[in-house]
Amino acid sequence: MHNPVGTVEMDYKVKDIALSSEGDMSIEWAQTNMPVLGQITEDFRSHSRLEGIRIGACLHITKETASLILALREGGARVALCPSNPLSTQDDVAASLANRGIEVYGWRGLNTEDYYWCIEQVAGIQPQILMDDGADLISHIHKENPKWIDDVMGGQEETTTGVIRFRAMENDGVLKFPVVAVNDAKVKWEMDNVFGTGQSSLHGIMNGTKILIAGKTIVVCGYGHCGRGIAMRARGLGAHVVVTEVDPHRALTATMEGFRVASLSEAAPVGDVFITATGNKSVIRKEHMERMKNGAILCNAGHFNVEISLEDLDSVTEGSREIQDMVEERTLCNGRKILLLAEGRLVNLALAYGHPSEVMDMSFAVHALTARWLTDNHDEIERDRVHPVPAEIDEEVARRKLETMGIEIDEMTEEQERYIRSWELGT
Ligand code: ADE
Repeated sequence: MHNPVGTVEMDYKVKDIALSSEGDMSIEWAQTNMPVLGQITEDFRSHSRLEGIRIGACLHITKETASLILALREGGARVALCPSNPLSTQDDVAASLANRGIEVYGWRGLNTEDYYWCIEQVAGIQPQILMDDGADLISHIHKENPKWIDDVMGGQEETTTGVIRFRAMENDGVLKFPVVAVNDAKVKWEMDNVFGTGQSSLHGIMNGTKILIAGKTIVVCGYGHCGRGIAMRARGLGAHVVVTEVDPHRALTATMEGFRVASLSEAAPVGDVFITATGNKSVIRKEHMERMKNGAILCNAGHFNVEISLEDLDSVTEGSREIQDMVEERTLCNGRKILLLAEGRLVNLALAYGHPSEVMDMSFAVHALTARWLTDNHDEIERDRVHPVPAEIDEEVARRKLETMGIEIDEMTEEQERYIRSWELGT
């Protein structure tokens, strides 16, 4: 087995353990903005909800993920963690977790071989519950460690791309244990994907380039929940937003919500910044790159680095240089320059800090409660299926979030309850 440090016995591998006190402070700060997860942590601690359960997590190693990992550990679980992206690890956070005895394997700037080595370490604890963000850990167990599958209670998937991969495995009859689509919980999908991705992607672009957004033409490729969030936030900062889509309903929604919708060929010569959020591959291709303005900026907010065709970009590049960390200037054969951010990987995690804690509070509260639910119910659910998050968990997290924000909502009267469920009452 490949081992980047040449030792065999170790229970963590991070960039620099001396960064742990910085990590402690940023985790503590995240926790103050994650009150729902805090309540769950308290409950896990006082009732040992996950006593003795082995949990493997392949998630972006951020201060918010650390808060989740510590909640699971408070419940009595043994937790091992690796990153779900080569560029997203916050090294101080990883050091802090390692210092607290969490088996964490990951650092910012992993090459492909080390990325899979980290996954292998987490798989090595033979997890009973697997938490994934993009399906890499669960696919790895299916492909490389099938003998451990019988012990697995279930998996949990954080992102749209991962859920799509698991549905494909389910349809092909190769999914060997239940996977809960955490991404599809309303409190995740309608909050994290829209407001989290919207804010953090713009933050990544501004952090990396320092450009003024007002007055720019920003082209958002894809109008799913993530694209919608990005388009909303770009408009809020004063950009002219152009949306590109392949789905006619989504294209219509974007039009009705006031965005200009165009094909990418039309948008290519007018865009100042291009952001992909489609979940698909080769969205921005050579024929688009060749039509772009001098100085156009390309970046990606989708899970994998396949949305901007890097092969096509290479094929039209004459020269390149790194003008800042994660900002690469390409000189094209036509003489124009294009800037590529974060090697086409997630701009919000590689050039910023990912979604803010307040929004991850909801996503990770769902993960924590789903882990507890899987522990209690794994014997009763179909094994070869993708399952929704139980509606009670989704609702509980929404209610708790509102409570922690000090927001009261109304309840239906008995008469309204009866009316809303009946079909006999009309005009
Ligand atoms: N995905 C997007 N933002 C994140 C964050 N802050 N932590 C973990 N995963 C994320």
